[in-house]
Amino acid sequence: MTAQTMEELVSLCKRRGFLFQSNDIYGGIKGLYDYGPMGVEFKNNLKQAWWKSMVYERDDTEGLDASILSSPVVLKHSGHEDTFTDPLVDCRACKSRWRADQLFENNKCPNCKSEDLTEPRPFNLMFKTAIGPVDDGSSFAYLRPETCQQIFTNFKNILDSTSRTVPFGIAQMGKAFRNEITPRNFIFRVREFEQMELEFFVKPGTDDEWHEYWINKRLEWWVNQGIKKENLKKIEVEKNELAHYSKRTVDINYVFPHGEEELEGVANRTDFDLGSHTKNQKDFKITSEVMKNSSSTTKLAVQDLEEKKWYIPYVIEPSAGVDRGVLALLNEAYREENVDKDNKRILLSLKPHLSPIKAAVIPLKKNNEELVNLSKEIKFNLQKLGLGRVVLENSGNIGKNYRRHDEIGTPICLTVDFETLEDKSVTVRDRDTMKQERVSIENLSEYYRKYFN
Ligand code: GAP
Repeated sequence: MTAQTMEELVSLCKRRGFLFQSNDIYGGIKGLYDYGPMGVEFKNNLKQAWWKSMVYERDDTEGLDASILSSPVVLKHSGHEDTFTDPLVDCRACKSRWRADQLFENNKCPNCKSEDLTEPRPFNLMFKTAIGPVDDGSSFAYLRPETCQQIFTNFKNILDSTSRTVPFGIAQMGKAFRNEITPRNFIFRVREFEQMELEFFVKPGTDDEWHEYWINKRLEWWVNQGIKKENLKKIEVEKNELAHYSKRTVDINYVFPHGEEELEGVANRTDFDLGSHTKNQKDFKITSEVMKNSSSTTKLAVQDLEEKKWYIPYVIEPSAGVDRGVLALLNEAYREENVDKDNKRILLSLKPHLSPIKAAVIPLKKNNEELVNLSKEIKFNLQKLGLGRVVLENSGNIGKNYRRHDEIGTPICLTVDFETLEDKSVTVRDRDTMKQERVSIENLSEYYRKYFN
């Protein structure tokens, strides 16, 4: 079972500290959200799982963490200054603004139903900011609209500082910014979000095969994070809807509470970007339409050792949204169950590696020195194992603690009771089955390690 409505998720996220409207106490800003104590742990766990699979578990990738503020020159050559737009219409009657391609009823304002709308005009989605102390417009930067451009501009730095040869990839996670005309559906479409992007550089001619490889690899990864296969769809992007850099894109769609939409895109960007950012483009046979006369000082190419010729690699790009991942996984894990005929519970049945809290240690009686001290010691020892956050719950209300930890997805709760003082074991309760077992304190580290591995 998943959530029935987006409202159920929004309410759980606020109640349990996953997500808050940003600038809430001043009325909030549309399209911005803050991750609370549970949200930050969950999001970091998701990013860590991606990094592990994209960098640590492979032998053909490197990582990068580049700056967010981007030179206009980079975003000119990438095509964003000219083409990164959405069609904007104004309603003359109520003065609201809409994305023309998202009007539900053709030519009607979704707010006041007036048909008095302006013609669509391109609206650039990039945010600008001044660089340096003088804000006279002469020196500005963009907040990056996608994380990958700095991967392309660092291509030579990374080649020169590692001994990589094509095929190889560069992975990066981090913030991206888009001045969306109509942010909506909770954290699905926001103005500040995070991406997890891999740019995988390949020899032209091998690109179609690598593209298929990455589409399947990414689908498999989302399934491993806990999304049911039947809730993920591979969607071929229509030729006339492809981004300016793409030869072919396959979207991985997920059935969100508001409908089926894109979770990740896997694009074949050809040599568009490296070609656009390359010095002396005329020396290369660049197949895509690129910015002519690049002012770059660097040749972003590699040498084919057999043919003794330089070429610009093609790039395959799996690009996933962290926030959309958070939303999809929360939805997928959401359950409502009857505990008995009078009581029901909500739980997040998250995969343990993603759970914000790995274990809660609960002394049966609040402030009982012996029980609390022993609980603290157990918590400290489990925390030391480095598998994620462990908390101590000293409220004395076991039932309430179980409900709270079910709702935030804590896989196990450990209760320290008066028997523990005698038999040196604790009660371990499993979130999903609610089954309880006694585990000796001596074996607890081993049990815990096994559980999370
Ligand atoms: N570098 C390629 C690129 O940025 P994209 O399809 O525009 O491609 C990739 O974005 C992913 O980033 C999307 O699949 C989505 O998960 C996420 N994303 C894009 N715009 C977003 C927004 N306004 N809010 C939240 N996530 C967004």
